[in-house]
Amino acid sequence: VAHEEGDLNDFRAILGNDIAIKSYREGKLPFPDGTIIARLAWNYVSSEENNKVFGRAQSFVAGSATNLQFMVKDSKKYASTGGWGFAQFNNGKPAAEAVHKTCFACHQPVKDRDFVFTRYAP
Ligand code: HEC
Repeated sequence: VAHEEGDLNDFRAILGNDIAIKSYREGKLPFPDGTIIARLAWNYVSSEENNKVFGRAQSFVAGSATNLQFMVKDSKKYASTGGWGFAQFNNGKPAAEAVHKTCFACHQPVKDRDFVFTRYAP
């Protein structure tokens, strides 16, 4: 889980399917075909309910969901983007093609970790 500040100001959780988690645990790269990594995000909001107990704004929780992102590994199908298919959904609907064109480029800094930022915390 991460808290993103700036314009986004959200909470994020990263989930992986069994293939992803096995690869993470064994410290093996690249991730094999069939890997799916999901990134969930929620607005970062102050909890009125909890703050009443504390008497000041000090409790922050996940509010409404913002968007959902996926990375799916298929080294043949997505050969031109490091073997990863990128997808974003807003309110259950796929985001625009232009949005999807930004994904791979921004994941370049972690090319040596198979384009995945998130590390496994044992
Ligand atoms: C501005 C740069 C940027 C863009 C554009 C971007 N990402 Fe990411 N992405 C990141 C960073 C940094 C992280 C890890 C930290 C975080 O989630 O805040 C991340 C994390 C992820 C993760 C969790 C796995 C990981 O690498 O940690 C997924 C899945 C993901 N992004 C999918 C996408 C998709 C799909 C798109 C395009 C629709 C996209 N990203 C566009 C920077 C970016």
